[in-house]
Amino acid sequence: MPLTVVDHPLAADLLTRLRDKRTGPAEFRSLTRRLGAILVVEATRSLAVTPSEVETPLEPFTGSALAVDLVAIPVLRAGLGLLDAVTDLYPDTMVGYLGMERDEETHEPRDYYAKLPPLAGRHALLLDPMLATGGSGSAAATYVQAAQPLGLTFVCVVAAPEGVERMEADHPGVPIVAGALDRQLNEHAYIVPGLGDFGDRLYGTV
Ligand code: PRP
Ligand code: URA
Repeated sequence: MPLTVVDHPLAADLLTRLRDKRTGPAEFRSLTRRLGAILVVEATRSLAVTPSEVETPLEPFTGSALAVDLVAIPVLRAGLGLLDAVTDLYPDTMVGYLGMERDEETHEPRDYYAKLPPLAGRHALLLDPMLATGGSGSAAATYVQAAQPLGLTFVCVVAAPEGVERMEADHPGVPIVAGALDRQLNEHAYIVPGLGDFGDRLYGTV
C-alpha cells in the first residue's frame, strides 16, 4: 500500500521548525497541531461522501456529506499531539486510545492501555508521529484491525524507511501518510535526521 509523503510548503515549514532543537514544548505542541491538520486532510482524501441536499439563501443545492464515521486513535503518548488536528477539522470524530511504549533496550513495543469505540463500518485514523522500527505502529495496527474497521490509515509526522518496510510487510493494506520520509535509523533506533524523542519534546519530559 502506498506511502504518501505530504509535499506542501506549509508542511515543510512547520516540520522544519519541529525538527529545530531550540523549539520548546509550547511551540512544539502548536506546530504539531497545525502540521497534523495538513496530514489529516491528506489522510482523509479518499473517504466516501454521500449527496446532501441543503437550501442556500438563493436556491436548493446538492452538496456532500461524509458517508462514513471517523474514529481517531492516538497512540499514547506522542499521538495525543495529533488528536486536536482531527477533532478541530471534524468535531464529530469518535476517539479511541492505545497505549504503547517502546522498550529503550530492545526497542520492542509494550502495550499498556486500550479503549476503542466499535470500529465496524467506521474509518480509523491511527495517529503516531514517529514510525521508526515500525514495531509500535505495526502492533497498534494489528490491534485496530482486529476490530474490523471499514478502513484504516496510519498518520505520522516522520517515517523511517525501516518502519515503512515493516508496515508494508505486516499491513500491506494500510496506507501511510507522513510529513517526511527520513534517511535511516541510528544505533538507538532513533530516526535521523528526525526530530528526537517526540513524546519528550511534546511534553517537556527530557
Ligand atoms: C515513540 C513514538 C512511537 C514509537 C516509534 O513512542 O511515538 O510510538 O516511539 O518507535 P518504533 O517505530 O520503533 O516502535 P515512545 O515509545 O517513545 O512512547 P511515548 O509516546 O510515550 O513517548
Ligand atoms: N520515537 C521517537 O520519538 N523518535 C524517534 O526518532 C524514534 C522513536
